[in-house]
Amino acid sequence: MNSKDFFNQFYKKTKEHSYSKSLYTFFENNVRPRLTQNDLKILELGSGYFSLFEDITNLSADITAIDFSSLAIAKAPKSKITYKEVNIVESTFFNEAKYDLVFDSHCLNCITNEDDRDNAFKNIYSSLKADGLFASELMIQPEVGSVSMPFKMIKTAVELEQEIISHGFKILYFMISKESGFTSIVEGREIKCDLLKLVVQK
Ligand SMILES: C[S@@+](CC[C@H](N)C(=O)[O-])C[C@H]1O[C@@H](n2cnc3c(N)ncnc32)[C@H](O)[C@@H]1O
Repeated sequence: MNSKDFFNQFYKKTKEHSYSKSLYTFFENNVRPRLTQNDLKILELGSGYFSLFEDITNLSADITAIDFSSLAIAKAPKSKITYKEVNIVESTFFNEAKYDLVFDSHCLNCITNEDDRDNAFKNIYSSLKADGLFASELMIQPEVGSVSMPFKMIKTAVELEQEIISHGFKILYFMISKESGFTSIVEGREIKCDLLKLVVQK
């Protein structure tokens, strides 16, 4: 089964309208204070069928939420948010520098192939206006032990730092918290990965 089939299966079954609550806190505490202009254009990556921005109030913004799962996009609510079926590793959608913010809703961890990740970062970069922001909350490897999960790429903080810089971004915020709550069983032991919150600028 490939990653798209995996998520389509998931969206076929799930009935809950949800997104990870940590994304809401991350946006409110670490991203929103950096958005000073009005009439923002925002792109959310990996929204599933319910964008985080459905619940963000008092934000003057034109929001597009994308996901490669056709089932998720078909189930999305009719709202002021535009939902679109887009694969972030394909370039067609990303041909114009028009977003003030690209917000990753736990999508990048799902890109498991290095060439695909290179394409995704290039797409994010080219879709941002000059000085536009990219914000992401990512599972990273814990300091001790190693975590792996199906359909996920979990890098170290240093590997991610290099990946970000090599794609031309300037790092504004790079904060690691211990023990994200995402776990993996390695040789019978439960290992938790750490969580990286980052905000970078084009
Ligand atoms: C871990 S889920 C997160 C869903 C939701 N944002 C949340 O917080 O619960 C990752 C999402 O990214 C989507 N996704 C994975 N790879 C993708 C890709 N290459 N392009 C677009 N969406 C992708 C999946 O379909 C899924 O909805």
